[in-house]
Amino acid sequence: MTASEIRALFAVVSRPEVVSLAGGMPAVTALPLDSVGSMIGALVSRLGAQALQYGSGQGDERLREQILQVMALEGITDASADEVVVTVGSQQGLDLLARVFLDPGDVILAESPSYVGALGTFQAAQAHVVHVDMDESGLVPEALAAALAGLAAQGRQAKFLYTVPNFHNPAGVTLSEPRREQILALAEAYDLLVIEDNPYGLLGFEHEPLRALRARNAERVIYLGSFSKTFAPGLRVGWVCAPHAVRDKLVLASEAQVLCPPALSQLVVAEYLDSQPWFEQVKVFRELYHERRDATLEALTALMPADVTWTRPEGGFYVWVTLPEGLDAKAMQPRAVHARVAYVPGIGFYADGQGARHLRLSYCFPDPDRIREGVRRLAGVVEEELELRATFLGSSDERAVRRDASAPQGSAPGEVSSRTRGGQPHGQADTPGPDLP
Ligand SMILES: Cc1ncc(COP(=O)(O)O)c(C=O)c1O
Repeated sequence: MTASEIRALFAVVSRPEVVSLAGGMPAVTALPLDSVGSMIGALVSRLGAQALQYGSGQGDERLREQILQVMALEGITDASADEVVVTVGSQQGLDLLARVFLDPGDVILAESPSYVGALGTFQAAQAHVVHVDMDESGLVPEALAAALAGLAAQGRQAKFLYTVPNFHNPAGVTLSEPRREQILALAEAYDLLVIEDNPYGLLGFEHEPLRALRARNAERVIYLGSFSKTFAPGLRVGWVCAPHAVRDKLVLASEAQVLCPPALSQLVVAEYLDSQPWFEQVKVFRELYHERRDATLEALTALMPADVTWTRPEGGFYVWVTLPEGLDAKAMQPRAVHARVAYVPGIGFYADGQGARHLRLSYCFPDPDRIREGVRRLAGVVEEELELRATFLGSSDERAVRRDASAPQGSAPGEVSSRTRGGQPHGQADTPGPDLP
C-alpha cells in the first residue's frame, strides 16, 4: 500500500488561506443541522437501547427496506431487502468485494482514471488493474472489448469491471444511455461481473438519473450506494446490493471486519429518510453544486491558458483537467500550494503511473467566490509553469545547438539534439532536452 495523494494533501489544505479544490467533501453545512440534531437527540431518548446496542451483521432491516426505495429512483425495482448489505460507507463495500473476489495476481478492469479509494482496495488485495479508456460519454465500449479480447487471448479473465457510471470521480463524465447497453452486452459475451459504484447518481443538474446498470441486469451487476453525498459522510452509511450467493459472503466478511455496521448511524439515516424531507434536501444539494459547477467552468474558461482542457460534469463534484503537453501536475503542486490553491494530481487515479498531465478539481465545498479565486490562482501557476518550461527548453535547445556545433563527430549515439529533432520552436518540444535539470 502507498500513501494516498488525497490524505497527504489534507494537512496542507486545511490551512484557511489555501483555497482547496482538492477534497471531495460534501457541503454538509447546507443540511438543516438544527432539525437533524433534534432528530438525533429524540432518537436516542426514544430508542437508545437499540441505537446504542450491537446490531445485525447485514444491517438494520427497516433501513434495508428504505434503501430499496432509494434505489428505485434509479430504476432498480426488482431488488429485495435480503440482497442489501449495509456497510460502513460504500468504501467498506469496496473493501469487502475485494476480499471476497480477489486473490493476489487477479486482473480487474477499471476506468482510466479510477476512484482512488477503489484502487487502494484493489491494490491492497494485490490485484492487477487494467485501465480502460473513457471519453466524454464515459467508458468506451470498443476499449473494453479490446481489453477483454486481449485478456482472453492470454487465456485470462478479469474478475470484474469496476465502474462509476454517473458523474465519475475523478473524471466528471457520465456513461451515456447507449453505452450502458453496450457495456452490459460485452459483460454477457465475456461472462464478466460488473461492480457499479454510484454515490453521486441522484446529484445530477441537467436531467433525471439514467437507469442504473443494476436495473438492466440483476445477475451480473453488483451495486454500491451511499448516503455520504445525499445526506452526511460522517455517519458512514453505505450499502451493497448483490445476488444472494455474493451477499452471504459479504455479510461473513463484514462480520469479520466490523461485527455489524454502527446501529446509531443506521437509525439516524432511517429516521431521516422517514421523518425529514430528504429528497427536498437532495434538490437543495443539486442546486448548490450546480451553481458551484457553473462557477468552476466559467472561471476555467475565462482564466486558463490556451491548451488546458477540462471535462464538463452534468452532476456530482468533479472536473478533470488536462494540462498542456510537458506539464506535470504533481511537480507543479508545491508551487500551487505556495500560491494558496490545492488540487489532487492525476497520478493518484491510476494504478500504473499514468496521469502526469491531469488534475482533479472538486467544486463541492468552497463557495463560488472562493472557487473563482482558486481557479484564478491555479491559472496563474499554470501560466508560470508554461513560462518556466519555455525558458528551460529554450536554454536547453541553445546549449544543445552550441555543443553540436563544437562536436567533431556530431551527437553521441542515441542522443537526439534539438537540430536533429527539426528545430521545434521553444516550448513545443515533445520530450525534454537532455540538459533539462
Ligand atoms: C466513486 C466513489 N466511491 C466510493 C466512495 C466512498 O464513499 P463513502 O465511503 O463515503 O460512502 C467515494 C467517495 O468519495 C467515491 O467518490
